[in-house]
Parts: sequence; C-alpha cells; structure tokens
Amino acid sequence: MDQYIIKGGKPLVGEVQIGGYKNAALGIIAAAIMADDTVLIENIPAVKDIDILLKAIEDIGAKVERINKHAVKINGSSINSVNVDFDYVRKIRGSYYLVGALLGKYRQANVALPGGCNIGSRPIDQHIKGFEALNAKVKIEHGLIKAQSENLKGAHIYFDGNSVGATINTMLAACLAEGTTILENSAKEPHVVDVANFLNSMGANIKGAGTDVIRIKGVPKLHGSEYVVIPDQIEAGTFMFAAAATNGDVLIKNVIPKHLEAFTAKLLEIGAVVEEFDDAIRVKAGGRLGSTHVKTLVYPGFLTDMQPQMTTLLSVSKGTSIVTESIFENRFKYVDELSRMGASIKVESNTAFIDGVDKLTGAVVSAPDLRGGAALVIAGLMAEGFTIVENVEYIERGYESFEYKMQQLGAVMEKVDSNDTKAIRKFKYKVG
Ligand code: EPU
Repeated sequence: MDQYIIKGGKPLVGEVQIGGYKNAALGIIAAAIMADDTVLIENIPAVKDIDILLKAIEDIGAKVERINKHAVKINGSSINSVNVDFDYVRKIRGSYYLVGALLGKYRQANVALPGGCNIGSRPIDQHIKGFEALNAKVKIEHGLIKAQSENLKGAHIYFDGNSVGATINTMLAACLAEGTTILENSAKEPHVVDVANFLNSMGANIKGAGTDVIRIKGVPKLHGSEYVVIPDQIEAGTFMFAAAATNGDVLIKNVIPKHLEAFTAKLLEIGAVVEEFDDAIRVKAGGRLGSTHVKTLVYPGFLTDMQPQMTTLLSVSKGTSIVTESIFENRFKYVDELSRMGASIKVESNTAFIDGVDKLTGAVVSAPDLRGGAALVIAGLMAEGFTIVENVEYIERGYESFEYKMQQLGAVMEKVDSNDTKAIRKFKYKVG
C-alpha cells in the first residue's frame, strides 16, 4: 500500500499539463469495440480505471494495442464473448458501458454489476429503463446485468433524472438499434458530448448531445476512426483549487476553459485571480480567500466531483461557507479526515457548514475515495507540518502522475510504501 507524505506550506507555482478525461475515455473505449475496424484513441489518461477497462475488453477477445502511454488501438472484430465477469471489473464504474456497447453490437451482454467509489447508493434503474425501452430484456442475476434483445428498436425515452451513465449507455445501444431513438432529459456533461462525437466519427448518427434532447438514428454498423479524448475538467479543476489553496500561481495547460466556468466563477467570487486563455487557465491567489455558498448540480452547474476540493479550500477561507451536495448522498466522508487536520466543518444531511479556520495542521489521514483523496492532498499542501495521506490507490484510479505533477509545481511530497518507515524518516530529514 502506498501513501503520500507531504510537507505543507509551499505555494504551487509553474505550469501543469492536463491529461485526457477519464470519464469520457471510459465511454469511448467501450464504444470502440462496437466497430469491427481498428480505432485509434489518443489522449487517454494513464490511470488505473482505464487499464482495467482495457483489460476487460481484451479478455473478451478485442485486440488492444498500446501505441504509447496515452494512445491505444482497439479492434473489436475478434470479440468472442459477451460475458464480462471478472473480479477486477467490479471495482470500476465505467465497466457498465460494456452493457450498452455489447447489447448494441451483439444484442446480448452479461456484465458484472459495477463498483466504483462509495459515494452513495448509485442505482442503475435509468440504464435499465433505457435498454428496456429499446426492446431489450434486462435482469440482474448472480451479480450480473444481463441484457438481450432479438430486435433492438429505437424508442422515445424520458429519463427520470439527468444521469451521465444512463445517457451514454442508452446512446451506445441505440446507435445500432433499428430506427430512431429520442433521449429526453438526458445529461449534458462534456463527456456525453465527447462520446457522441466519437460515435459519430465511427459513422453513428447522433444529434443534440450537450442539450437535454438527443436524437439517434440507428445505423447498421460502425466503422474505424481516429479520435482524441477531451481534456479532464476534474483534473484541471483540482489543480485550479490547489493553486488557489496554496496561494500559488499556476498555468494549467491543455484545458477547455468553457468546461471550467463553474469553478472559475467560484474562485473569482472568493477572491482568487483567474485568467482564461484559448486552451489554458491561470489561477493565482495571495492571502486568505473569502467564503461562499456552493451547491453541486448537473452540468453546467458546479460538478459534484469538485465538491471535496472546494470544501477543503473553504475550510481555511474567511467566514462561514455552506456546501450542499445534491447528486450523491455520501460524498462528505473526507470531512472527518479534514477535521483531524483542524478544519471546523459540520455536516448535516447533504450540507456542510464550514467555519473557516486560520490554518490546517498536518495529520495522518486516509483517502476515502478518488476525489475525497485528491482533496486531502490539497489539505496537506496547505497545512502546517507533515501530512500522510493513506490509500493513494483511490487517487491513482483517476489522476495520472499526481505526485509528480504536484512536485513539478514545487509541492514537497513523495509517494512511499506505507510499510517503509525508513522512507518516511528519510523524507522528513531531507525536507527539514
Ligand atoms: N442515478 C439514478 N439512476 C441511475 C443512474 C443514476 O438514480 O440509473 C442517479 C445517481 O444516484 C446520482 C445521479 O443520478 O444521484 C447522477 O448519476 P450519474 O449516472 O450521472 O453518475 P455516474 O454515471 O454513476 C459519473 C461519473 C462520476 C460522476 C458522475 C456525475 C463515470 C465513470 N463516473 O457517474 O465520476 O461523479 O457521473 O457527474 O463517468 C469520479 O470521477 O470521481 C466520479 C465519481
């Protein structure tokens, strides 16, 4: 088990390059197996969740050729099984996109129920609603989602809530269904648009992605394509907040500033300086920032995946802030850890009431999930003294070379084996 050891108190300064969007790449990799030609996908992030999905498609027979760390060629013509029931697949969320992809292409899919971060109950009823409307029979049996259809047909579907996962999954299957599908009340997130753009590059006919009505005309087959995944808005947002939290000055490169507007607005509101360029954004701060109220919402609202980083930043801001989580009911687990570092936060139901303290102090804390873990790293960078963040494997599921990118910005942190007490002593001795 690895952990990060951090000596806080140093502003982050310099430039950082943002990678491809994990949550878009997961949908795109699943979509890639729907063609029988080779597909080249570039700008995939080198993170654990992506490795797991690539291994899963390889294990059902797809050809997966790594061109380099960030590019892969996939050929789905050799798929010989629609059963995706591997232990490792249960650990990630994005594996559920294989249901839509396999159902669309082979009219049948048996995929292990997805895992992912424990941030709430995470039902899949809307995915099932989508598949059933397309004339598939779906059942949950022995830990598997089993979907099959003799005759996949387009349909008019009205989702009960905006779900990124259900929108993408239904869109995947509908691409190869007979006739037209209309998805209403669909999610508008950038990764829905990216997966739709990718499918269109493979010959699908999808219109309206990015609005709440998506129209899909089924086509008989998809062909090969070359595609570049969009930049990761959450990785970018995390570095934006880390820059502000440490009173730093960071140029965050390879981003789409439009996707970051909700974060930019909040940073400006509390007194940070944000400068937008065509494909970069600069964040700097000097002195203590102010308080605000934040509510997580679907896009273009404030993203739930940035809620822990925002709360952490506000834990040392002047005054009282309120953060309301409206997407996942269990996304405040990191708050107990922040409290160990001296934060004053009270969580009632889905709302955190934050009394900004003058400073955080280093402590041993444990990452409860991916984004909560990233937030604790930001806390460690702000805190006085040494912080140890345990369970970094959560963070590595979604952030590529996190400690390296932080180190390049001047962060005093290292990844060490938790059993290696010598390494911790050595680090403390080295950095004083
Ligand atoms: N929901 C339902 N029924 C469904 C599906 C969703 O009630 O069938 C509810 C959920 O419980 C939640 C809301 O709808 O309250 C939104 O869920 P959504 O389906 O949009 O989320 P997801 O597909 O499970 C993806 C990301 C999450 C991100 C959310 C929201 C992937 C693999 N995961 O999850 O990312 O928080 O969208 O944007 O794309 C992360 O990257 O750390 C992460 C958790």
